[in-house]
Amino acid sequence: MSGNGQKKPVLEVRDISKSFGAIEAVRGVSFDVYPGEILGVIGPNGCGKTTLFNCILGQLKPDKGTVRLKGQDVTGRSPVKLSKNGLGRTFQLLQVFDSMTVPDNLLTASQAHIGTVFSRLFKRPDLGLGGKVNNVVEQFRLGHLVREEAGNLSFGQQKLLDIAMGLMSGPQIVFLDEPAGGVNLSMLVDVKARLLELNGKGITFAIIEHNMEFIFEIAHRILVMAEGQVLMIGSANDVRKDPRVIEAYLGQQD
Ligand SMILES: Nc1ncnc2c1ncn2[C@@H]1O[C@H](COP(=O)(O)OP(=O)(O)O)[C@@H](O)[C@H]1O
Ligand SMILES: [Mg+2]
Repeated sequence: MSGNGQKKPVLEVRDISKSFGAIEAVRGVSFDVYPGEILGVIGPNGCGKTTLFNCILGQLKPDKGTVRLKGQDVTGRSPVKLSKNGLGRTFQLLQVFDSMTVPDNLLTASQAHIGTVFSRLFKRPDLGLGGKVNNVVEQFRLGHLVREEAGNLSFGQQKLLDIAMGLMSGPQIVFLDEPAGGVNLSMLVDVKARLLELNGKGITFAIIEHNMEFIFEIAHRILVMAEGQVLMIGSANDVRKDPRVIEAYLGQQD
């Protein structure tokens, strides 16, 4: 484990389980997230990564287990409350509104009910958030796109906007679900650079990612899931050469 020293975890996940009928999607998962780190989460399709994030982030109620944020039990707390407690997220599927401009997308994301599509439909006027929008636009180098409707952006630019929207609530920890998914190589460089910049400013990340090269380059530690469980947590190097990880991915087509 690199760079954690004696730091106390900012997020403690303990023994989370979640079933859908007979499918045990997540089975007794425990891990910590340390302040300032980028934790990568990988694992074959269907191994429970998104379900795990949903249980942590209030989208799903876990059958079992606890989540502690900055020492406080926040298990089952709503996404809105968690966002107010400094926990932000983006989803595996894009949450941007095609017919809204880039700044309007950012604005809606920052208004009270962050993170749900419905709430973003009920956009309210700028509540003095213009400055914040400008900051995020600048931070994400989206200045040349401020007049564009999100639907006119490339997929990679939309992914970047989606991440920027996740940052509007001023979170300390951000959970991302496949930020590199479907993004072309040149935009990937941008996504990577923005994430590293934000991390350099002290924002902690937990990132599910299918693109191994991408996540191995930016993550301090990697959590590998297989069949709903934690297979291992280690450095990119440890993970790369672990036979259990290679075995878990055998038979995966993509
Ligand atoms: N809402 C749901 N209802 C029923 N089964 C689900 C639901 N969400 C996920 N699953 C199942 O749970 C398992 C884990 O899915 P998921 O968490 O999406 O995996 P991953 O994100 O690692 O690809 C899969 O077998 C999936 O089909
Ligand atoms: Mg998923």
